[in-house]
Amino acid sequence: MNRIFSGIQPTGNLHLGNYLGAIRNWVALQPEYECIFCVVDLHALTQSVDPAELRATTREVTAAYIAAGIDPERSIIFNQSMVTAHSELAWILSCLTPLGWLNRMTQFKEKAGKQREMAGLGLYAYPVLMAADIIGYKATHVPVGEDQKQHVELARDIAGAFNRRYERDFFPLPEPLILGEATRVMSLRDGTKKMSKSDSSDYSRLNMTDDADAVALKVRRAKTDPEPLPETLEALEARPEADNLVGIYAALSDVSREQALRRFAGKNFSTFKEALSEVAVSVLGPIGKEMRRLMADPGHIDAVLRHGAERAAAIAIPILREVQDITGLLRP
Ligand code: AMP
Ligand code: TRP
Repeated sequence: MNRIFSGIQPTGNLHLGNYLGAIRNWVALQPEYECIFCVVDLHALTQSVDPAELRATTREVTAAYIAAGIDPERSIIFNQSMVTAHSELAWILSCLTPLGWLNRMTQFKEKAGKQREMAGLGLYAYPVLMAADIIGYKATHVPVGEDQKQHVELARDIAGAFNRRYERDFFPLPEPLILGEATRVMSLRDGTKKMSKSDSSDYSRLNMTDDADAVALKVRRAKTDPEPLPETLEALEARPEADNLVGIYAALSDVSREQALRRFAGKNFSTFKEALSEVAVSVLGPIGKEMRRLMADPGHIDAVLRHGAERAAAIAIPILREVQDITGLLRP
């Protein structure tokens, strides 16, 4: 059976981009794949984060996975740092990764910004840890949003570098799975910017825990142009804000962009926004409610993570041991 690995960083607020670009697709993939879903807390350390907040957000992301429909009995849910094989393999892989490959990573350039000399080594090495996450389980498929495609391709290159260096077909080459009609959800305030956890404007994103009033308000305030919705997809693509909202509507309603547009072509935005708000509340409302219920019992969440970590370690440790043998490291 093909194996899936994916993860989300426990930083800031989970938003509609995380849900539509990642979690919603994971839920649908569970019947067809062996699934491992990780809360990547070591990745969160690449930005300065308060320890108490990191603990709380790790539990919140776990709650979101479960509330959205990941079944912790069927799939494995755990936090990255509980399985030390990730960091150990990351070191070995970092010794096989040319700096030139890391220098191409656009996310590093964006996150490091102008202060490049001040950026941490962890932020730079982050894609190598991500490669270790994925290939450390010999995962074959990685469902992510569009923005992570380059990192998954790097993981593929690193797996290939290991196989070539040690002249064997050890790691499968993982493939990105970029699914659905909203693979790159944009800010509600600016159609050229990605919806992100770090945007300082609250109106830029719908959070997974937003209540009906917040959703309605943010959708109403979402930036649009004065024209009614167009008739064709080509015309829609030329209008980034409108295109983004139609993509969100389509993904939330499980229809294609084309079908979504057919419902609203020629109508004005106030009509469309009302429908969008309604579907967003109907999908996010129950998830947010279940998240809050789960978060009220952190003991239960921690037990889910510990159980998941045991199952994850049972896969990752034998693979790490083999890697140690292959590379010539004497091991326990
Ligand atoms: P992150 O919040 O960076 O840890 O991302 C976790 C997952 O959500 C990854 O699979 C991302 O590709 C996905 N994701 C984050 N932001 C967006 C977005 N604006 N649109 C689509 N997917 C996203
Ligand atoms: N880098 C990913 C992000 O920010 C999170 C991540 C870490 C991940 N390890 C992973 C995603 C392994 C998929 C597979 O979105």
